[in-house]
Amino acid sequence: MKIIETKNYQETSLVAADILAEQVRKKENSVLGLATGSSPEGMYSELIKMYKNGEVDFSKVISVNLDEYFGLGPDNNQSYRYFMNKHLFDHVNIRKEYTYVPDGLTKNPEQECKAYDQLIEDLGGIDLQVLGMGLNGHIGFNEPADYFTAGTHLVCLEESTIEANSRFFASKEEVPTKALSMGLKSILSAKKILLIVHGKAKQEILMKAIHGPVTPQLPASILQLHPNVTVVCSFNE
Ligand code: GLP
Repeated sequence: MKIIETKNYQETSLVAADILAEQVRKKENSVLGLATGSSPEGMYSELIKMYKNGEVDFSKVISVNLDEYFGLGPDNNQSYRYFMNKHLFDHVNIRKEYTYVPDGLTKNPEQECKAYDQLIEDLGGIDLQVLGMGLNGHIGFNEPADYFTAGTHLVCLEESTIEANSRFFASKEEVPTKALSMGLKSILSAKKILLIVHGKAKQEILMKAIHGPVTPQLPASILQLHPNVTVVCSFNE
């Protein structure tokens, strides 16, 4: 595991954007596993700047997102599809039809989850998976549990996650209680993983994830088993 501690969020975003842009330069049709949340937001802004300066070309890139709130559709401004359009896809030359996010409005979650795993397999797996990490150590929406879940699945969100994510909603009651999340098999099958962590509040849990025992109670700890993980982090605020 390679750990790059930077001096602040701005630098974290720049370093992360360089890693992702480098991946796309090396393989123009890369399959990128993308994440939402405040952690990768700065990286997306940097990538938009790089695209506008002609430094990166997304025209052949394919993306698969980690997760989506169950019950929220693309037009809902709290959905992760909406987030991705707003923070990246609408501003670069990625082909929208090759950007995949689980369908939060599915009537048949079980089938949607199977189809999502099949899609990832059909794409030949993920070249670079971007991850953020929740305050409880979750990755995607793989919450602390007694076991690791392999495939895409419907998750009941932890109270603490609902609380943490309520900062993006008008009230806590509006936060969906369930989500569709990629499982740990797809995440760990990615050829490379880029974990972005920012903030004092996440420093201790990150240290446990990196140096402590591998346990489903701290989902990010499973990344210790992956041969090519880069952690870009800053803890200054
Ligand atoms: C959400 C997302 C995760 C994200 C995490 C951390 O619950 N499902 O993919 O990594 O929260 O979010 P943030 O980066 O905003 O702290």
